Amino acid sequence: MSSVEASAPLAPPPPAGAVLRAEHITKEFGGLVAVADVSFDVPRHAIVSLIGPNGAGKTTLFNMLTGLYRPTQGRILLGDRDITRSRPDVITGYGIARTFQNIRLFGAMTAVENVMIGHHARMRAGVFGSIFRPPWVRREERETHARARELLTYVGLPETVFDRIASQLSYGDQRRVELARALASEPSMLLLDEPTAGMNPSESQVLTEFIRRLRDERKLTILLIEHDMKVVMGVSERVTVLDHGRKIAEGEPAEVRTDPLVIEAYLGRRER
Ligand SMILES: Nc1ncnc2c1ncn2[C@@H]1O[C@H](COP(=O)(O)OP(=O)(O)O)[C@@H](O)[C@H]1O
Ligand SMILES: [Mg+2]
Repeated sequence: MSSVEASAPLAPPPPAGAVLRAEHITKEFGGLVAVADVSFDVPRHAIVSLIGPNGAGKTTLFNMLTGLYRPTQGRILLGDRDITRSRPDVITGYGIARTFQNIRLFGAMTAVENVMIGHHARMRAGVFGSIFRPPWVRREERETHARARELLTYVGLPETVFDRIASQLSYGDQRRVELARALASEPSMLLLDEPTAGMNPSESQVLTEFIRRLRDERKLTILLIEHDMKVVMGVSERVTVLDHGRKIAEGEPAEVRTDPLVIEAYLGRRER
């Protein structure tokens, strides 16, 4: 019997308003425990940050929440729904979208085309529709195209880049395209993996403001992996800290910042 089933009766029901909940999740790669017995909740419409030194297990946790990896143990709930074993496309359909630490765009496609692919999860036309292209399919395509352009504008890109090949865009612009693509799947929850990586302080500041706007205007719940402490402290209501796969602290940004374990995890690494 799996430990998932064994631990289920012990877990209390999700607190009212928690959209996403991880219960005792562990991920092992061979002998390496990348995430060890981590539990946490993401309340609806909150901005929650996940921080920790390199290799702490943050991306692995995201990969489990989005169905790319199956937890070795534990379970993941979206509302009342157990998504521990759901496929990534199914989880996207449930309303969780993400961006990647290493940008994953289709390099040979244009910015608009990349965003249109993100909308695919919400389109009605299947294989039949794309081959025979009845009028409603063509209308759906036109609408998807128009929506993609709107989203690119929303994330702050000028029209001049819409039809350019993604791989030719600047790093910052590619990050924006990726964000637009995530939004195109019409998510209720957005997982951002180090969105300010490679940005200068003023670009980070602009993005931080934008993350807050996204939450407010689009009624999103946001889970953010971020290494820039200034961004984390400015934007999040709650912070969860991982180190060596374990959760070492959790709470409001001000509490976490002064937590001796957190300071040690960060300062300890910096000296090496
Ligand atoms: N697919 C994988 N196979 C083997 N080890 C992995 C894999 N993904 C991550 N790891 C390991 O798990 C640990 C946590 O990695 P990661 O989640 O990427 O950390 P973070 O995002 O916090 O920097 C690291 O030691 C990393 O090398
Ligand atoms: Mg990572």
